[in-house]
Amino acid sequence: MTNLPEQLSNRQFEKYCALVYQECGIKLNEEKRSLLNARIAKRLRLLDVSPGRYYDMILADPHECACFIDAVSTNHTYFFRESASFKYISADCTAIWCAACSSGEEPYSLAAHCLSLGGAPAILATDISGNCLEKARMGIYPGQSVQNIPEALLKRYFQKGINRWTGTIRVKAELRQRIIFRKFNLLKDPLPDQGFDVIFCRNVMIYFDTPTKERVVARLGRVLNSGGYFMIGGAESLSGLKHPFTYIAPSVYRKP
Ligand SMILES: C[S@@+](CC[C@H](N)C(=O)[O-])C[C@H]1O[C@@H](n2cnc3c(N)ncnc32)[C@H](O)[C@@H]1O
Repeated sequence: MTNLPEQLSNRQFEKYCALVYQECGIKLNEEKRSLLNARIAKRLRLLDVSPGRYYDMILADPHECACFIDAVSTNHTYFFRESASFKYISADCTAIWCAACSSGEEPYSLAAHCLSLGGAPAILATDISGNCLEKARMGIYPGQSVQNIPEALLKRYFQKGINRWTGTIRVKAELRQRIIFRKFNLLKDPLPDQGFDVIFCRNVMIYFDTPTKERVVARLGRVLNSGGYFMIGGAESLSGLKHPFTYIAPSVYRKP
């Protein structure tokens, strides 16, 4: 076993930050240093390599690059997070893109909301993190994660685990069938061919700098139908950015 340094050197920290920025647009600053250290250290221990060697491995191997992105991305989410904006989705909405869906709580919340209105939209749910998408596809969550789900929707669209699944809840097939989960990097991957009535891109641009935000918003705007809604997170804003939307309410924009 190699004796690994506890901390990245300044030079290594800068190189890794530049790599995170290049791969996923996330701007890490000095405050995130200990977080990056801790997350990389785990991977270094597992692979028994030095930070320098690990950096080269990421560049050379797309699988390791994906593991690195999984390790450094922040995936916090929960059911019915900031659900005030759901009221803009009507029953006749047919296509929704949830463009940084983390482990799936957001698109499942959207699916439950739409079905309860009598709607039946196709939902594309994407994220850069393969680990998150795996969890999302399973649709199984800790029992305590249901606390924000409205009672009626919880009863109708979720089931309690039994036997070895006791203490968990599972999303029923009726919701799971509405959603296609795919890996998608907001910065680089080719856009879907279809147009969407609503795009959610919430609590991810907060990690991006202004040019990256503008690029991502412009890209997503290309596949939003005219009259469609663009939703961002409560702590995010498009003010001061070049963008093609009309402001409707906090976190809610619309394509003219
Ligand atoms: C904090 S979570 C937000 C999840 C959800 N939208 C919500 O609001 O609860 C941010 C997600 O953005 C994803 N992400 C970060 N950079 C990305 C990129 N360049 N392309 C796609 N997804 C990205 C992360 O993997 C993470 O799952």
